[in-house]
Amino acid sequence: MAAKTRAPRNRTISVSKTDAIECSSRITNGPSANSLNKIICGDALAAFAELPTARFDLLFADPPYNMNKDFGGSKFKQTSLEQYQNWLDSWVKLCAPLMKNTASVYICGDWRSGSAIQRVGSKYFKLRNRITWEREKGRGAKANWKNAAEDIWFFTVSDDFTFNLDAVKQRRRVIAPYRENGKPKDWDEAGKFRDTHPSNIWTDITVPFWSMPENTDHPTQKPEKLLAKIILASTNPGDLILDPFAGSGTTAVVAKKLGRNFVAIESDQNYCLLAAKRLETADADKSIQGLSDGVFWERNSRAKVSEK
Ligand SMILES: C[S@@+](CC[C@H](N)C(=O)[O-])C[C@H]1O[C@@H](n2cnc3c(N)ncnc32)[C@H](O)[C@@H]1O
Repeated sequence: MAAKTRAPRNRTISVSKTDAIECSSRITNGPSANSLNKIICGDALAAFAELPTARFDLLFADPPYNMNKDFGGSKFKQTSLEQYQNWLDSWVKLCAPLMKNTASVYICGDWRSGSAIQRVGSKYFKLRNRITWEREKGRGAKANWKNAAEDIWFFTVSDDFTFNLDAVKQRRRVIAPYRENGKPKDWDEAGKFRDTHPSNIWTDITVPFWSMPENTDHPTQKPEKLLAKIILASTNPGDLILDPFAGSGTTAVVAKKLGRNFVAIESDQNYCLLAAKRLETADADKSIQGLSDGVFWERNSRAKVSEK
């Protein structure tokens, strides 16, 4: 990866030649007994055949969306909705047998391909919900609504699945401090906050940007906080997570930070190295921006509570 000159406060992760050598033990060329918790560098569709069946607790799939996109020189070309749906089907059908009967499945996409994801996912799994993540970055349109949302479709294999509600409650400032017999009802008097049930509209997660320590040059990197919500809700410590389109390794990094195991596959060598370098850093630093004291705080509210 060619080194770029960056502004002093720019914390974007890059991989030097020395890093590449040091991180190489975290990358493997194909699934094998020792590819657990490593980045498999290769084609996911080929790797599925080598993975054990009925072993995974969570599938997080963030595939190339149906748009023209350059992933490190490998170009994904926009196609018809029907062809995109066929492509989705070609790999979802290979993933399905790898999942445990108690597993959860999340598939990301934009509004254009939502119908295809819903149809394909529902063919193999039980549809539970559609999460909409408001990501404020997005290109303004002259005669349309600016697209500032992505969807994450949530499925399970059966009706028997993990959902750790308490781990993903959102701590919000109390707007209407209701009292019963003079005592606060469901809210903390000292901090004036309440832990609320998380909804399927996520407005508290920013896209990684240059001053954040998790940022890389990957064009469609997901935020660690987003993965933390999904992993904490749908897995338990020690569970096994599959990410077939690992990119810069966000799922793998968050799985590691939260004590879960993973199998992550990425076809681009440079992105595999980025993921490997992030895994090295996660050995020493388990923090996840936006998750503090084991709680997801409403935006800007953590600082206000500390002030008090
Ligand atoms: C939307 S990005 C995933 C980003 C990732 N969630 C992150 O946080 O960085 C999709 C990734 O899939 C990779 N990819 C595309 N086709 C693939 C394939 N057949 N097997 C493995 N990886 C593939 C691309 O190189 C790209 O990095």
